[in-house]
Amino acid sequence: MRKHRQAPSSTPAVKLTPTFDSTFPLPSWSLASCSVADTECLGAMIGNGVQGGEVFALYGEVGTGKTALVRGIATGLGAAPRSVSSPTFVLIHEYRGRLPLAHADLYRLESVQTVPHLGLEEYFDGRTIVAVEWAERAMSELPIDRVEIRFAHRSETERTIILTATGPYSHQALTNIFDRDSSSATQGIITSLPKSS
Ligand SMILES: Nc1ncnc2c1ncn2[C@@H]1O[C@H](COP(=O)(O)OP(=O)(O)O)[C@@H](O)[C@H]1O
Ligand SMILES: [Mg+2]
Repeated sequence: MRKHRQAPSSTPAVKLTPTFDSTFPLPSWSLASCSVADTECLGAMIGNGVQGGEVFALYGEVGTGKTALVRGIATGLGAAPRSVSSPTFVLIHEYRGRLPLAHADLYRLESVQTVPHLGLEEYFDGRTIVAVEWAERAMSELPIDRVEIRFAHRSETERTIILTATGPYSHQALTNIFDRDSSSATQGIITSLPKSS
């Protein structure tokens, strides 16, 4: 069985309030983040639990915490977390942890037509963890089986974050990440949303 990796001790304990949305048609997990530390901790959970090849498509307005989540993923993977920021001059940054992490931010993408030239597909190698901010600008380039993460403002410091699996590999990945995490910091805070009938 895969050995559970604890997040670095610098990762703060999260105290998140579950939110519910039974209307979601796909397996979804929902939570309320009360601080940037919460969002980074969720990212660290993801980084701890990924097995390789997971693709995360991130959606949400500027300032909702997409980059903060990727910073947490890098922390959980054991990559240098402080180095993760929105890529400014290039659209894709690579980080080295126990698995490679590719972080794309398509905010500055001038045209959807330029996506095929980004080389995103090079990272879909079954091993690299791929996180794409503004994923709606690269929909046709993303694998069908991916984790969609939607961020929304609730207040200055609160965000709603909903994670949805669009295929069996992503579903298994989220199940591994959330159901196997038995640390006291995270137990009971993530709630699996029921499938709608
Ligand atoms: N709960 C929260 N989760 C994430 N970021 C938060 C939260 N509350 C406040 N913030 C602030 O919002 C901003 C999020 O920035 P960033 O992660 O770059 O967002 P995005 O990549 O979506 O544009 C940061 O300044 C962060 O401190
Ligand atoms: Mg960003």
